[in-house]
Amino acid sequence: MDETENLSEAKRTTVGPPSVLEYLDPNYWNERFTSEDHYEWLKDYSHFRHLIQQHIKPSSSVLELGCGNSQLSDELYKEGITKLTCIDLSSVAVEKKKKQLLSKGYNDIKVLEGDMLNLSFDDEAFDVVIEKGTMDVLFVDSGDPWNPKPEVVKKAMAMLRGVHRVLKSDGIFISIAFGQPHFRRPMFNAHEFTWSIEYTTFGDGFHYFFYILRKGCRLLDVDEDVKKVDAHCLNLYQDELEDEDYLFRTNIDDVDDR
Ligand SMILES: C[S@@+](CC[C@H](N)C(=O)[O-])C[C@H]1O[C@@H](n2cnc3c(N)ncnc32)[C@H](O)[C@@H]1O
Repeated sequence: MDETENLSEAKRTTVGPPSVLEYLDPNYWNERFTSEDHYEWLKDYSHFRHLIQQHIKPSSSVLELGCGNSQLSDELYKEGITKLTCIDLSSVAVEKKKKQLLSKGYNDIKVLEGDMLNLSFDDEAFDVVIEKGTMDVLFVDSGDPWNPKPEVVKKAMAMLRGVHRVLKSDGIFISIAFGQPHFRRPMFNAHEFTWSIEYTTFGDGFHYFFYILRKGCRLLDVDEDVKKVDAHCLNLYQDELEDEDYLFRTNIDDVDDR
């Protein structure tokens, strides 16, 4: 497992804070982004480009949640996907990202300060919502992974409700994550959502998850499960999982956070 690319390892190196709880503190991100110009969580675009291309068209309007100083939006722009809006809670990240994009001439990309738990966009505003490693942050203080804290579930559901709301009726949510299907499924699969759920994996040695949630495609007559769409084995080693304290592990049968 290439642990330099996940938050648990980040904690143990100069990349991360002494405690993963700091990932929940906006001040941590502001301080970090003041001195850091570029860091890719999980993997960079080249590792999942083949997965994204089939889902995003040049005409798609795309919202990226928690862009940080990732180059994901730059890479999408280079592919001809220009209707891009990026948000981040960190004002420092937003200002730096704006400057970087302007210096590259990528003037069409909107970068806004915003909270993914309280999205300020109109209903059905986007064809695609995408996040990489941002939802994962919500789970750094989930407590018992098999029985996560109610406040963690509440935040994750607030995020998902917002994503579902701002997606067009046939929009898709792409979640690129460390969080594993058996922990994500209960929330993705909450009855209020109309999306179908599929995932695949990518990465060498250690696998990350690429979830595709298609709004309006839920099969209502079955107790829908998460569908794995490729033939690869999951291939996660138990010691890798046990070593990983940055798990966004959730396994609740009925999501009821209200
Ligand atoms: C683990 S980093 C991922 C950054 C980037 N997506 C990447 O792949 O490299 C998490 C990012 O989410 C941002 N963030 C954390 N909570 C957020 C929230 N509630 N709304 C929007 N952004 C948030 C942080 O400021 C940080 O930029």
